[in-house]
Amino acid sequence: MAIKLIKSAFYHEMETRVKLCEFLSHPEQLSIGKYCLEFEDKFAKWQGREYCVFVNSGSSANLILLQSLLNTGRLQKGDEVWFSSLTWATNPMPLMQLGYTPIPIDIELGTLNVSLESFQRSIEGKNIKALFITNVLGFCDNIDAIAEYCESQNILLIEDNCESMGTVYKGKKLGNYGLASTFSTYIGHHMSTIEGGMVCTDDRDLYINLVMTRAHGWDRNLPADIQDEIRAKYGVGWFYAKYAFYTLGYNVRPNEINGFIGSDQMQYLDEIVTIREANFKRFVEKVNSNPDFYPIQHDHIEKVSNFAIPVVCKSLEILEKYKVRFEAEEVEIRPIISGDITEHIFWKEAYGKLNKKTTAQLVHSQGFYFGNSPEYTEDEITILTGLLSI
Ligand SMILES: Cc1ncc(COP(=O)(O)O)c(C=O)c1O
Repeated sequence: MAIKLIKSAFYHEMETRVKLCEFLSHPEQLSIGKYCLEFEDKFAKWQGREYCVFVNSGSSANLILLQSLLNTGRLQKGDEVWFSSLTWATNPMPLMQLGYTPIPIDIELGTLNVSLESFQRSIEGKNIKALFITNVLGFCDNIDAIAEYCESQNILLIEDNCESMGTVYKGKKLGNYGLASTFSTYIGHHMSTIEGGMVCTDDRDLYINLVMTRAHGWDRNLPADIQDEIRAKYGVGWFYAKYAFYTLGYNVRPNEINGFIGSDQMQYLDEIVTIREANFKRFVEKVNSNPDFYPIQHDHIEKVSNFAIPVVCKSLEILEKYKVRFEAEEVEIRPIISGDITEHIFWKEAYGKLNKKTTAQLVHSQGFYFGNSPEYTEDEITILTGLLSI
């Protein structure tokens, strides 16, 4: 039986596809409209944030957030923005593209995340302006202490939460620790809109700029009262308001197909998180009782919500053993996200090779992950737990 990393395009796949066909058979608007707004509203409420801005991918969410921080003057080009070295490429890439100075921070082996201790060690004596932390694969380290420290030092904290939608740490969902956070609804992630991503924040000015940055730098997707404010401020009349461009933007809008699916899938999100958490507990018990692997520390997290299970082997030989084992059962495995991002060619070509040994490199060279689907059968879970046994 083959077990792919991504089992289905949607939770309740066939039912959702039927609903989608039905939706498409009506002559409704398909460009951004009421379903996208409905999804934004539902997601903001679910996340416990004031605002949610829906875009066409998690990568675009990162891009517009970093652009909006420049547009609103919260950060400047050249500013040192530190980021987790175990992350996805489009976390540091927009930092590079937008002219920030990106600097990687190493992670802890047990949690795969940046801790306050690793953060403080790295930034000593540096002129840091912001931390763009990645909450890796449903985990975090002591992000509450990091948030407190950032606040006390006037360091802007933003979270890439594309891998941890639904994780709860110290009574708070990840994605609610910083000024803003990003999410992905790509099919392989927690909840699917085929492609998609969101930025969440409680900050009204940032929200306004994010909406404009998402589409051309215009105000047309903002609520009417905010449009009135902006048009009055700049003296823009009704005719030119159609094509008035206020801030540096892109076009990374989602469409109503994404919005319709997202709004519909929201009814399942808590269930998806609960099942994934239950699966995780069964898998982690196996990982942590197998001496071939480094244990995963998760007891400090109330609810772990991930879409893949990371396994870090104690040697390269052990990794080879499990690669063969998983392949023989046709179970798809991949490196742990992008691994250490500074090991990738785009980074080395820009900044050269890092001249020190890091934990992220160890995870990169000795780690793998397999999927955590909310729709696994008992047989599939038995195969996976069996593969993790010594
Ligand atoms: C940490 C992180 N950030 C951003 C992204 C990008 O999301 P998307 O694939 O929706 O562009 C990913 C994708 O897997 C990710 O893992």
